Amino acid sequence: MTAASAPFDASKPHVARVYDYLLGGKDNFAADRAVGERMLASIPAVQLGVRAQRDVLGRVVRYLVGEVGLNQLLDIGSGLPTADNVHEIAQRIDPATRVVYLDNDPIVLSHAEALLADDKSTFVVNGDLRDPAGILTNPDVREHLDWEQPIGLLMCGILHYVLDKEHPGDVVAALYRALPSGSYVFIHHLLSTEDPAAAVLQEQMRTGLGRAQFRTMNEVRALFGGLELVAPGLVLVPDWRPEPPAIRDHPVLEMACAGVARKPLRRGPQSPYVSPAVPCSGRSLPDAGRPLPDAGGRLGPVAHSPRKTGPVAHTPHTVGARVRGSWHTSPDRWGSWHTHPKRDAKKAECRA
Ligand SMILES: C[S@@+](CC[C@H](N)C(=O)[O-])C[C@H]1O[C@@H](n2cnc3c(N)ncnc32)[C@H](O)[C@@H]1O
Repeated sequence: MTAASAPFDASKPHVARVYDYLLGGKDNFAADRAVGERMLASIPAVQLGVRAQRDVLGRVVRYLVGEVGLNQLLDIGSGLPTADNVHEIAQRIDPATRVVYLDNDPIVLSHAEALLADDKSTFVVNGDLRDPAGILTNPDVREHLDWEQPIGLLMCGILHYVLDKEHPGDVVAALYRALPSGSYVFIHHLLSTEDPAAAVLQEQMRTGLGRAQFRTMNEVRALFGGLELVAPGLVLVPDWRPEPPAIRDHPVLEMACAGVARKPLRRGPQSPYVSPAVPCSGRSLPDAGRPLPDAGGRLGPVAHSPRKTGPVAHTPHTVGARVRGSWHTSPDRWGSWHTHPKRDAKKAECRA
């Protein structure tokens, strides 16, 4: 598919190309490298965080396509093509998966177009997250995804570029309303924490890229708009269904969180939804375990998988979990972090 070509100015740094530089890519210009170098000078481990972001994106895609059984993904803020792109991961699992990439950077669009020229299942679209109506009415977005079947909406490393004054809650709500029931939403977001390095990074992004809005864990949770977080909830990036071996314990990895939520298949009077207890991760999470604002009846513990895998039996600590912290003690398949000494200490603090 051909995205509308838009002009670009190589003398101005752009987030996609700075990110590409930090990932070790070659699709960047001097202005992008200068911003990347300034970040590296003040936070030498920043590349660890960038790598962790790519890794969690891969884990989420494998979860959505391989475990949930989705076969269509809308990746907003897709970034420059790199190793193991979303469509490659997804189509390795299910070659029929359709992927629509959407980005507002002309360089991203031209590179993706070149890469995908012969790909009949993957498409690239010019669009802006801050214009959800434009996304939802884009003929390519309408045509290449079936809006009557569940869709995986990926927003990895993009919402922290939408400022509060641009009403990110309204932006995502418009997208969520349009998603078919049974769809999933993934958010990766940079965190506003007490670590001074987070403030330094945010300032450098504001200066270098013109915008950045880090948010607290609770503010990010609000961006799910009351959708049901699946286990393990909204957590620090390395804690989202970790796949060892991976570096999981570094201050830079506490600067971003990740979560996946589901739009319920149906509503009913039973099983009032209670927000899953979100791992403490050393932060104060006053609203964990409280009913969400729109917590009218929600789906019980079993959901229908949209494709081939049959019903998805959620573990007791996923949808409708009622006991705060129960999943901290349940044996599960992502259990490696249960034995992580530093995080276990934090969890104990959290439960106390
Ligand atoms: C840090 S990169 C993340 C790339 C990829 N999602 C990942 O996590 O590896 C952020 C991407 O979002 C894009 N972006 C930023 N603001 C956007 C907006 N308002 N609408 C569409 N794309 C945007 C940038 O061009 C860039 O490609």
